[in-house]
Amino acid sequence: MTVDQSPAWLALNRHADEVRDQHLKDMFEEDHHRFQKFSFRAAHCLADFSKQRITDATLQQLIKLAEQQQLPQKIEALFTGEHVNTSENRPALHTALRQPKEIPLVLQGVDISKEIHCSLERMEALVEQIHNGQWRGYDGSPIKTVVNIGVGGSDLGPLMTCRALNLFTTDEIRDIDLHFVSSMDGSQLARLLNQIDPASTLFIVSSKSFSTIDTLANSNTAREWLVNASGLPVELISQHHFIGVTASPSKASEWGIPEKNQLHFWDWTGGRYSMWSAIGMAIALQTGNTNFRRLLAGAHEMDTHFRSAPLTRNLPVLLAMVGIWNINFLNIHAHAVLPYDGRLQHLPAYLEQLEMESNGKSVTLNGEKFNYSTCPILWGEVGPNAQHAFYQLLHQGTESVMCDFIAPALRYKEHGDELKAQHQLALANCLAQSRLLALGDSVLEDAANAPSHKRYRGNQPSTTIMIDELTPESFGALIAMYEHKVYVQSVIWEINPFDQWGVELGKQVATSLLDQLTTPSAASTDCSTAGLIQFIQQQRQEA
Ligand code: F6P
Repeated sequence: MTVDQSPAWLALNRHADEVRDQHLKDMFEEDHHRFQKFSFRAAHCLADFSKQRITDATLQQLIKLAEQQQLPQKIEALFTGEHVNTSENRPALHTALRQPKEIPLVLQGVDISKEIHCSLERMEALVEQIHNGQWRGYDGSPIKTVVNIGVGGSDLGPLMTCRALNLFTTDEIRDIDLHFVSSMDGSQLARLLNQIDPASTLFIVSSKSFSTIDTLANSNTAREWLVNASGLPVELISQHHFIGVTASPSKASEWGIPEKNQLHFWDWTGGRYSMWSAIGMAIALQTGNTNFRRLLAGAHEMDTHFRSAPLTRNLPVLLAMVGIWNINFLNIHAHAVLPYDGRLQHLPAYLEQLEMESNGKSVTLNGEKFNYSTCPILWGEVGPNAQHAFYQLLHQGTESVMCDFIAPALRYKEHGDELKAQHQLALANCLAQSRLLALGDSVLEDAANAPSHKRYRGNQPSTTIMIDELTPESFGALIAMYEHKVYVQSVIWEINPFDQWGVELGKQVATSLLDQLTTPSAASTDCSTAGLIQFIQQQRQEA
């Protein structure tokens, strides 16, 4: 029996029949205490669910569904290292990466907490060497530029966090010019290599598998550039200019990263959950080791809340269950992430991978096909900019969309009045948009007389997530909250959020097509692909 046949699910279906036609404006008129009832605080975050199309009974029944799915036991299973990643038969222990050293975690007789902190300390030592100018390039220059080469989880987390915490640094840190290169087509490298100085540039090759073609292609290009610029042998260049962060040390060595330049993490760290490991080295380089530890501490605060708070007041649980309500009972399959703070510009892309690569699944843990929806289409943009792009659809289009509005309550404490005023402006817009999406043009006196193209129907549900202010701690907590939300939803849907088999076949097909592109006679595909290959080859011949 799949979950959609279970008593708690069927009860929610019946409940949805009662709620589906209710409008948020009526819910707010009937109950002036929605904010008090439906907003919750933990670990620097406040989540306001009052603009969701929920009632007291909805939350009660959602919690019953979570209990029926044995969520508390499943949360314990995650933290204690049970093999929650069933298809790869291993744990998913990203929470251990931010656990304080004093708390042991024994896995098959080994205290992995010790290993984790050993790796963290090695990373910190390398970061210090780079900061204090001890790490030198091939001609003795101290490192001025660092380029993180990685893709997916080996890129998005560090990139997002470096942008989010770009004002955080400590006095002892020398300014490092930091860049991120991910795209296999070489666009980022082609531009960057013209601007930077080879002798003072260090590349961090970040790859859990150390076999991702995108990352290897970029790394090969970078290494060739350095060899050509220096006239020195590959081995010497690798020693001075490459650090490898990986869970596959033998592959990193094969590629030529000397062991002393390698930082390791573990196969039980999912790629999209890995920014807390040495994959986060770029974060530590930009913000300093202390701030990296503060980030881990913030995430740990959210972990502790998630593990110990009752389901009824548990932020990640509520975020997840309200999502389940929207997706499975109100039939909403689009989710917009809308940060009202430009520093969070990469959060939508990060969540696209976190949510869609984790929960974009359609078979249960037992391999059974099912008929209910899982992860919705998630996208987003910095809110104020999105207002001038796709908000038209949110307000007047035909699609129901659930939104997450995210903003810090405080900003620019050390800045002048103009920037403080800009923050107020952004907050006013954030609040205005979620209010209008919920209540429609009923917020105006005489809206009913407006022509239909000027009407706003409202009833688009949203959650507003406010953090006190954007700090390493609050940011760590925010990201951990989303990680746990994804896990909770996977428990309800009975799917494995920690594998990603759906990305594998594309890699294989690309390998065979690469042969066909380079060997004209080998073409044997469908007529569309063959026609496109022919077009490419013709262009090449004519060029
Ligand atoms: O192809 C998808 C994926 O495996 C992601 O899950 C992962 O984050 C990314 O590629 C990069 O993988 P790696 O860190 O092994 O290079």
